[in-house]
Amino acid sequence: MADSHSLAVVIGSGGGLGAALLTQLESDASYTQAVGLSRSTEVGVDYLDESSIAKAAESIATLCATSGRELRLLVVATGFLHGDAGQPERSFTQLDAAYLSHVFQVNTLGPALVMKHFLPLLPKTGRCVAGFISAKVGSIGDNALGGWYGYRASKAGLNQLVKTASIELTRRNKDSICVSLHPGTVATALSEPFAKTGLNVRPASEAAADLLGVLDGLNPADTGCLIDYQGQKLPF
Ligand SMILES: NC(=O)c1ccc[n+]([C@@H]2O[C@H](COP(=O)([O-])OP(=O)(O)OC[C@H]3O[C@@H](n4cnc5c(N)ncnc54)[C@H](OP(=O)(O)O)[C@@H]3O)[C@@H](O)[C@H]2O)c1
Repeated sequence: MADSHSLAVVIGSGGGLGAALLTQLESDASYTQAVGLSRSTEVGVDYLDESSIAKAAESIATLCATSGRELRLLVVATGFLHGDAGQPERSFTQLDAAYLSHVFQVNTLGPALVMKHFLPLLPKTGRCVAGFISAKVGSIGDNALGGWYGYRASKAGLNQLVKTASIELTRRNKDSICVSLHPGTVATALSEPFAKTGLNVRPASEAAADLLGVLDGLNPADTGCLIDYQGQKLPF
């Protein structure tokens, strides 16, 4: 449970899952304040522009310094699967450098730069949590179906970054927790074209509540793991 000076930050608060996470955190008594950041907020975060990530982190550092609040929860809810940059691949014959570059930019490089600029803002003592929304399909051990080369590989890369950052964070704060999260299949723009195959597609509000419950129940021993919305650890 966070203390009364706690700040929660959601990056990607304009997305389906990010918006639901922010709404629930805004009425969560564990946090004095919840701040959302996305490409459309006043202080914008665009992964194609590192300076925007740096400026957003500076604004959170200033907010903490002037309010006495501490960043106790960081949730990164950004992601890309399909759009103008292309569609997920069914075959290696469809691999496309422009699509691969974009999917890695948004799913891997962007969160890495968020780590660079935001993880130093986490307190050096006491419980603090960084949750990066990944995907089960990023699990190499769980890959039985193939396909979606770029998305799978970009999320596997994210998982490695999260594991690596978790080790460094533990060295600076033994009570820190840094995890990758699988939200399940959620009714958002990201899943919409692919959600007609009998999958259990859940509303974003339900997925957000599950993820916040999982984050709330984690211990430092859980750091570095890929964890699903039911609290189950998944293989990397
Ligand atoms: N929906 C599912 O079934 C499902 C399943 C497994 C994993 N996930 C993961 O869940 C997370 C949330 O996805 P969602 O379903 O909520 O999808 P979504 O509604 O499409 O949201 C995507 C988010 O990514 C952000 N984003 C995209 N490009 C960006 C860029 N260049 N710079 C900064 N932000 C960028 C968007 O920001 P703007 O608001 O600024 O557009 C938006 O906040 C993702 O990591 C996704 O991979 C989703």
